[in-house]
Amino acid sequence: MNDSTTGAGHGQALPDGAGDGTRAVRAGLPEPVKHEPTLPGPVFAAHFHLPGDPTGPYTYGRDENPTWTLLERAVGELEAPGRKDVEALVFASGMAAISSVLFSQLRAGDAVVLPDDGYQALPLVRDQLETYGIEVRTAPTGGDAQLEVLDGAKLLWIETPSNPGLDVCDVRRLAEAAHARGALVAVDNTLATPLGQRPLELGADFAVASGTKQLTGHGDVLLGYVTGRNAEAMAAVRRWRKIVGAIPGPMEAWLAHRSIATLQLRVDRQNATALTLAQALRERSEVTGLRYPGLPDDPSHKIASRQMRSYGCVVSFTLPTRARADRFLDALRLVDDATSFGGVRSTAERRGRWGGDAVPEGFIRFSVGAEDPEDLVADVLRALDESAG
Ligand SMILES: Cc1ncc(COP(=O)(O)O)c(C=O)c1O
Repeated sequence: MNDSTTGAGHGQALPDGAGDGTRAVRAGLPEPVKHEPTLPGPVFAAHFHLPGDPTGPYTYGRDENPTWTLLERAVGELEAPGRKDVEALVFASGMAAISSVLFSQLRAGDAVVLPDDGYQALPLVRDQLETYGIEVRTAPTGGDAQLEVLDGAKLLWIETPSNPGLDVCDVRRLAEAAHARGALVAVDNTLATPLGQRPLELGADFAVASGTKQLTGHGDVLLGYVTGRNAEAMAAVRRWRKIVGAIPGPMEAWLAHRSIATLQLRVDRQNATALTLAQALRERSEVTGLRYPGLPDDPSHKIASRQMRSYGCVVSFTLPTRARADRFLDALRLVDDATSFGGVRSTAERRGRWGGDAVPEGFIRFSVGAEDPEDLVADVLRALDESAG
């Protein structure tokens, strides 16, 4: 098999110690072929020519696709630079990726530990796991509280920083404790992106993410991935993808790969502006509960600075009332009132409108985009003034 077209292994060799920008622009590229594009276009195929014995790599479009192969290689290179023992699998969405790990690894009678302050679809997953006879224990992300409920668990699920509260836990400490008890560890790396944090290096068995957010960054693709270093566990995840069929379309996979080329530019710009915005918000008396792991006095900063390389593009804060928060969102001109996060266009929302998070009515989750920082901060400060009443 030609390594440039198969598996999620590593393709073109990068110089040792290549920086994030270099790795992002070259991630997953195949060996150059004369007259072929640098990044081959999406391969639209439900089936592939397959005379004789049905051997891979490409047989049927629910099992494998060359466009996924290149994207999987890119994701693997970003989550685990230089490691050939790590496999990556792409999925139709972040939830498909999360479910593939939980439902492929857990059996009736097993116990799993989930965060109680994670992404708001996790309680739905919890209900589903319980109907299958799986015991679900929950604990908050902050203070490594999941440690207290680990005994006898088969899997520990970590989301750090947590969405939307932006609490951070110590991945290395939790992974060591979980492994000592025989449990596998998965980390949702959505908010940090693989440039901001590498859970596999911190000891996790799986790094899982929604690629819908900053990884792809344009608000136009739903995608998820699982990376892992335990071959047996990853085989079960792959089997789950085949059974459930939660696969990305070739167009989405290709768009995602193209977008990854600018990941470092976007992460650098957006995350730097997020810090600038958080600093500006700190000066405002109507803002409480301000959270950004990159702020030196944020409760998450100490652990975050040890295990993260960059602190994400999401800032959370609370305005005094629901009405004030709604007026603020209405007054913003450069920021769309929309859910999700990580895109090049700033978005913000009153998170309480969904009803799934334990947050105050005036809680705002703000996703910082790639606008000029001065323009964005000015827009936010003006909207705060105008919404005062
Ligand atoms: C931390 C986190 N994990 C997973 C997901 C789910 O991803 P998707 O919407 O791509 O299914 C989200 C979505 O917001 C998220 O914020």
